Amino acid sequence: MNVNLNNVDDIIRSYGKNPGGLIPVLLKIEELYGYISEEALSEVSDKLSVPPLRLKKIISFYNTFSFTPKARNVIRVCQGCNCSSGGGQLTAAKISEFLNIKPGETSPDESFTLELVPCQRLCAVGPVVIINDKVYSHSTADKIQQLLSEYDSSEL
Ligand code: FES
Repeated sequence: MNVNLNNVDDIIRSYGKNPGGLIPVLLKIEELYGYISEEALSEVSDKLSVPPLRLKKIISFYNTFSFTPKARNVIRVCQGCNCSSGGGQLTAAKISEFLNIKPGETSPDESFTLELVPCQRLCAVGPVVIINDKVYSHSTADKIQQLLSEYDSSEL
């Protein structure tokens, strides 16, 4: 997705040029485009007077942000203690093997992005896998693999 710098400027303007506005600005850009492009990073750096290297470190610190575009379907596998011990690690490994991508990567056809995420505060129904905005509770590697094998180019 091409980044419209006018939109980025509008976002920056809406939060003002204060230090507390940096993360909300980045979140809004991530929400709008699904990642923080080099162009957007440069614009934020310039407008908010944050050196590019520092900005990259800040963005890298939070796993909410990505430097690369995400796929149409984002699979988030919880790796919190409860989910991990209940099979979340195996589920992540099976999905990774099934899609032939590592966590943090996007499939070559841009259908799936696989992410490992910390506790989603849904421990009571874990292990949890979230595909786009839909939560799959009590998930198992087999259930998620079955779901992905039925994928037919529409969103899950
Ligand atoms: S550990 Fe997965 S939701 Fe809490």
